[in-house]
Amino acid sequence: MSKKVTVPGIKAMKEQNDKITMLTAYDTPFARILDEAGVDILLVGDSVGSVVAGYTNTLPVTIDEMIYHTRAVVRGTERALVVIDMPFMSYQISIEDAKRNAGRMIKESGAEAVKLEGGVNMKDIIEAICAIDIPVMGHIGLTPQSIHQMGGHKVQGKVEEQKRKIIEDAVAVEEAGAFAVVLECIPTELAQEITEQLSIPTIGIGAGVHCDGQVLVIHDLLGLLGDFRPSFVKSYVDLRKVISQAVEEYMKEVRNGAFPTEKHSFHL
Ligand code: KIV
Repeated sequence: MSKKVTVPGIKAMKEQNDKITMLTAYDTPFARILDEAGVDILLVGDSVGSVVAGYTNTLPVTIDEMIYHTRAVVRGTERALVVIDMPFMSYQISIEDAKRNAGRMIKESGAEAVKLEGGVNMKDIIEAICAIDIPVMGHIGLTPQSIHQMGGHKVQGKVEEQKRKIIEDAVAVEEAGAFAVVLECIPTELAQEITEQLSIPTIGIGAGVHCDGQVLVIHDLLGLLGDFRPSFVKSYVDLRKVISQAVEEYMKEVRNGAFPTEKHSFHL
């Protein structure tokens, strides 16, 4: 195993101009594959709600569900930094509640950092969690937990007022003590400006090439989710097709008696 990835290590990657790779993972087998491939950060995103559980958005995901999936990811990980998403309403109510939930999620899941959505509005919360030495990754721009307020999954920061707000959010997240920040669905030029202004790494998704790192949902990268795919996603393989073909082959062989063979059978 090459050197374990740590929070200071991620911060140093920006200084050394090394691009950070982050992918989502929700279970042990995927975590093991991604970790062995050398991905720097495994994010147990609350996207588990839409990607794995079939919800239409991330809002129903619970703390217990996040802990369950993160424990599975931690069991499959040796090198990568594991970050757990704080789900909707696990940090928004009060500082005390946010600290208690962040603490529980780290303690029970084995993750090494939490991620939460919001900028200026979450500055106090991020500050309080960092003050108890739990590393926080911020998440600004399109924040899926605000889907109803935003009116859907829309690119943010295209008009001047929004752009200014997102820059203020980025500065607030850094000032609050976050070690990195996800920039989701904002124009490339805005992401570049923020990346140059901040001393902490920016990790982009739909935010162009100038971020210090990139993140994708693993099911998108592998082409597991079918035809609907946001334009910022690149699928590197069509696994849905590969899986369908394998399953069709299995059904054919069961039906024509070609499987199981002697090799797959036991005898008295
Ligand atoms: O929940 C998630 O997977 C995320 C990433 C897309 C950044 O927040």
